[in-house]
Amino acid sequence: MKITGYTGLYGIVANPIKHSFSPMMHNTAFKELNINDVYLAFEVEEDQLKDFIRSVKTLNIKGFNVSMPYKLKIMDYLDDFTKEAKLCQAVNTVKNENGKLTGHISDGKGFYLACLEKKWNIQDKKIVILGAGGASQAIIVELALQGAKEIVVYNRSDKPFIKHLNEKLDCPILLKTLDVEKLKDDLKDTYLLIQTTNVGMSPNIEKCLIPDESFLPEGLKIADIIYNPKETKLLTLAKNKGLDYMNGEGMIVYQGAVSFEYWTGQKMPINSVKRELGME
Ligand code: ATR
Repeated sequence: MKITGYTGLYGIVANPIKHSFSPMMHNTAFKELNINDVYLAFEVEEDQLKDFIRSVKTLNIKGFNVSMPYKLKIMDYLDDFTKEAKLCQAVNTVKNENGKLTGHISDGKGFYLACLEKKWNIQDKKIVILGAGGASQAIIVELALQGAKEIVVYNRSDKPFIKHLNEKLDCPILLKTLDVEKLKDDLKDTYLLIQTTNVGMSPNIEKCLIPDESFLPEGLKIADIIYNPKETKLLTLAKNKGLDYMNGEGMIVYQGAVSFEYWTGQKMPINSVKRELGME
């Protein structure tokens, strides 16, 4: 697709952002589907966010993603929110319709779609999540909306927000203090364990919140949302035990796909995007 006077603009706002996969993902999808739009990365300081929003409206930027550290702050500048964004109290996708900016969050649905690709069915299942940060909140909201039976969240510190979610969603959500013996017991009847903390992320790849394989019962499915390294120590434990597992690459691609569809109404060509990102 040639850039012309008709080419539309999308982007991502964050700081830092130059390392992001998102421009490659969305530009690959636009090209493959012959959509005359481009997607760029905008690295702005917090005190420039207001000006960024003015630019979105002035230049008619059709939509944008939001990453750290602005997923909460950006909400001050938006006109409306989807149900998911309201529940998460965070936004990573914004659609511009004639100057009206609506905030959405695609991280949780992205994770859910990655589960579907693995043929994991979370309906009526007990889920255990390690960590209660932003990514975890989005996953909790989506899995609760999709009909999980119960979600147990282990975090080292208290998170009142998780208790609020328990009141708002039709799925019991329990917050427990990280304690490996309690966790071991919980995992005995768990369908899916989701690791959302930074523990095990590069460069600290030898770290793992699960001490050894004996914590992982037969049949347990394991997702680690870390994608660098591709195989964390937790996933090596899962592999050695013969369990079904996935890393964070699927969540990255599918959160992009959810944003893409929210903006364009079209499905992202997942396989081409994965190939472009070297994920196949
Ligand atoms: P993200 O947006 O990726 O979810 P985040 O919001 O910074 O990142 O959340 C990081 C999560 O990892 C939090 O749950 C954090 O625990 P706290 O809420 O107690 O800070 C968790 N985390 C980070 N380092 C950890 C560690 N060494 N041990 C246990 N949990 C850790």
